[in-house]
Amino acid sequence: MSRTITVIPGDGIGPDIVKSATAILDKAGCDFQYEYVEAGLTALEKTGELLPQNTLDAIERNGVTLKGPLTTPVGEGFTSINVSLRKHFSLYANVRPVLSFKGTQARYEDIDIITIRENTEGMYSGLGQKVSEDGNEAEAMSKITREGAERIVRFAYETARREGRKKVTAVHKANILKSTSGLFLKVAREIAEEYPDIESTEMIVDAACMRLVMNPEEFDVIVTTNLFGDILSDLCAGLVGGLGMAPGANIGKNCAIFEAVHGSAPDIAGKNLANPSSVILASIQMLEYLGMQEQATNITKALADVIASGDRTTRDLGGSHGTTDFTQAVIDRL
Ligand code: NAI
Ligand code: MG
Repeated sequence: MSRTITVIPGDGIGPDIVKSATAILDKAGCDFQYEYVEAGLTALEKTGELLPQNTLDAIERNGVTLKGPLTTPVGEGFTSINVSLRKHFSLYANVRPVLSFKGTQARYEDIDIITIRENTEGMYSGLGQKVSEDGNEAEAMSKITREGAERIVRFAYETARREGRKKVTAVHKANILKSTSGLFLKVAREIAEEYPDIESTEMIVDAACMRLVMNPEEFDVIVTTNLFGDILSDLCAGLVGGLGMAPGANIGKNCAIFEAVHGSAPDIAGKNLANPSSVILASIQMLEYLGMQEQATNITKALADVIASGDRTTRDLGGSHGTTDFTQAVIDRL
């Protein structure tokens, strides 16, 4: 029986790169039905809302969503749609894998790291935001709970086990942020004991930044709190050639949203210039989530071969072709 996936084409380059990803999924024999819904600027113009109710319903109904980048209008009091989605569906795990592809402009080879970022607590919980009347003092609250820390650390170890990975590194700043990061580290150490088959290490966040740049090959799975995870996951994307080669997933108990991590690139929208790799990689992540490993492996191989051979690659990869040619090059290998 074919499975229905919610698809949000998104804004700017979104529709083109998402179309590329679904064409590749179809050619790989995935047998999906797609329920298309809107969010972001496209939705605002049509319905007056950034995140219409029927979009929320579709995300919930189908459980799995593939999403293009969304434009959040600036300076008009709109909150980020991505943040709203994470809150609404309690998507507590932000999963950001990076993998080296030969043929990109990346500085490193053999990188294969997953950053698992807690997505709902910490510095980004939005709690206690205050600015004094004279505007000279500002404060915000960081909150970590045992429940939140346990579920993200467990998620990291379960991911490691499922993917046959060897090591989980808990990244923290417990030496300074004694209460919040301290609780996170305490919980990480407890959970580590439940997984004797996996090597557990811990690292202070600043040291982790340095080691990621000097010796990225020594990292496997990183688990960390919200703010550190936001920064480290972009750092990791930089190791493999930038945000164009990095996908992300937001995963909760009942729903998961898979997306490109770059934005809607208004400067090249509608010009057939965008590199669709990030959203193709997001769709591979989605296949792995659905247990469709064979199709995931086949698409990864096809994509890697296109990039390594330079056959019909896009400008950002050093080629001279557009989104549709690049997509066809991947499809030709499936
Ligand atoms: P951006 O990521 O859209 O663009 C930055 C630069 O990278 C641009 O020069 C763009 O042409 C290039 N670029 C991005 N993706 C590319 C691709 N697939 N192929 C080739 N080149 C690519 O970031 P920017 O300009 O800061 O944001 C534009 C809009 O996107 C904003 O409205 C922002 O709010 C939104 N945004 C949405 C995100 C999401 O939905 N996940 C994430 C980041 C930004
Ligand atoms: Mg970020």
